[in-house]
Amino acid sequence: MLTLQDVRYTYQTKNQVVEALRGVSVNFETGQFYAIVGPSGSGKTTLLSLLAGLDVPKTGEICWMGKSIKSMDLDRFRYDHVAVIYQNYNLFSHLTALENTAYPLYLQGVPKKEAEARAIERLKQVEITEEKYRRLPIHLSGGEQQRVAVARAFVTEKELVLADEPTGSLDSENSLRIVELLSNLAHKENRCVIVVTHDNKIAERADQILHMEDGRFEKTGG
Ligand SMILES: Nc1ncnc2c1ncn2[C@@H]1O[C@H](COP(=O)(O)OP(=O)(O)O)[C@@H](O)[C@H]1O
Ligand SMILES: [Mg+2]
Repeated sequence: MLTLQDVRYTYQTKNQVVEALRGVSVNFETGQFYAIVGPSGSGKTTLLSLLAGLDVPKTGEICWMGKSIKSMDLDRFRYDHVAVIYQNYNLFSHLTALENTAYPLYLQGVPKKEAEARAIERLKQVEITEEKYRRLPIHLSGGEQQRVAVARAFVTEKELVLADEPTGSLDSENSLRIVELLSNLAHKENRCVIVVTHDNKIAERADQILHMEDGRFEKTGG
């Protein structure tokens, strides 16, 4: 579904060129849960931002359903196909748990009532209880905020779900809950879920572990 062919990416800073990705080739399938692991600076975040369509490779190709994303409107690609979960949750601080979850549906023009009904379904799935629907993020625990962020990623039918260290600041119990949710999203809803993590317990739950080292995947095949 999502194929990378010899993808290279460099950052140009004032006095040097940083080769962040040095030839990444990989194939991601729907219904699968992938973990990307590797040392800091190995290129994981750069890779995710290319997968999210935030930028295009300097050379090489990223193809979505066989079509190069270079030939697509990247905003459209993101809007139609990609959901991202961030380490620091990125919930809107002035919106309630329910409004945060429903937000992608508001953007799609789904009527408020229907959007909220669909959001509530997702909040139930991530075990956020009713009395918390109307709370602002600051009145939720870190684990609850991250589950709301996951609910928001579930609420639209986007095929590609990307997460960069989604459990970074959570304790192990909450981390495992998030991983369980992401794993279900891949297996029960047939999405392609790609998670960057340094947590081995999370990586172990993935269908495939990809090891990044110095801008490339190690040739172990995971
Ligand atoms: N905006 C940037 N400008 C210059 N260099 C960057 C930038 N972002 C990342 N890099 C460099 O690119 C390499 C890969 O970074 P990154 O993708 O963030 O790795 P990881 O997420 O695995 O820690 C590192 O050497 C990093 O210093
Ligand atoms: Mg990173």
